[in-house]
Amino acid sequence: MTHPPGTVRKMLSRPEILLQIAEIKVLTPRVSAYRLVSPHGERLPTWSAGAHLNFRLPSGRTRCYSLCGDPANKAEYWVAVQREENGEGGSLEVAETFARGVVVPADPPRNGFPLAEDARHHVLIAGGIGITPVVAMIHHLKRNKASYFVHICARALKEVAFRDLIQAEVALGRAKLHLDGNDPARRPDMGAMVGAAVDGTHIYACGPAGFLKAFDRATESWPRGQVHVESFAPETKQTEGDRPFDVTIISTGKTIQVPAGTTLLAALKAAGHDIATSCRQGICGSCMVAYLDGEPDHRDQALTDDERREFLTVCCSRARSASLTLDL
Ligand code: FES
Repeated sequence: MTHPPGTVRKMLSRPEILLQIAEIKVLTPRVSAYRLVSPHGERLPTWSAGAHLNFRLPSGRTRCYSLCGDPANKAEYWVAVQREENGEGGSLEVAETFARGVVVPADPPRNGFPLAEDARHHVLIAGGIGITPVVAMIHHLKRNKASYFVHICARALKEVAFRDLIQAEVALGRAKLHLDGNDPARRPDMGAMVGAAVDGTHIYACGPAGFLKAFDRATESWPRGQVHVESFAPETKQTEGDRPFDVTIISTGKTIQVPAGTTLLAALKAAGHDIATSCRQGICGSCMVAYLDGEPDHRDQALTDDERREFLTVCCSRARSASLTLDL
């Protein structure tokens, strides 16, 4: 497809919402939850369990955090953020700048990790701060009297965010807490949590990279359509057999080569293009760039079909054609 340069962003610009921090709750020594409302008392855009918000932080960083409140509540959002002292600075910036009354811009909620509507039973598995989308799922499934079971994995009880909710679910026989004391010998048995695939059962996991690798291995025999994953670890999705391609930048006329094994994002950054990113896994949509020519190989879970006709996410997507032209 071909568009005159510079027109695409006007055709499909990304809306922005403003959210005011109304309340802050300390959930664990490292995790705080933030209640967000409209600064003008309006209803907030609707969302579904598994969705996230992509914040535009004062430094210019974008960061996405799963919504962890009740999706039926149209007046407020909740997110919970874990301080990562050795991370890239996003969570520390949130901790420093998200004070009561502060207004922050964000993209409207997106959902790359939805519940399967036709499932007869849901198994939810969370590691560490991966609990956040699972909490929203619990609210939704409870409200709809759906069949589900939750596994929460953490080092210690004091590190479990939303402890009251989880312990209430444990008491009702709908959840199990797996606390390993940070001892590798006591790591929960992922194979036992996952079990054998059952028709109509969908299984979901969210957590750090090593946790999800174990989940991937444990679900190898499951039909892919019944397995749902969200990761918080920045990880690109380049695969063996990826082909190199060229990218032409419309503003400069320069052509950049993207070798196999190098992401489009990395190639653009190496050429001096500053692209905003957050998840770097095709979930948040913050790295979407308009393309003017060529056929992308979309590998994200963030963009709608309409958006894919105009944009691609450069953190994970590549090209099916020999070249792409980007509106940068
Ligand atoms: S950075 Fe999140 S989709 Fe690319």
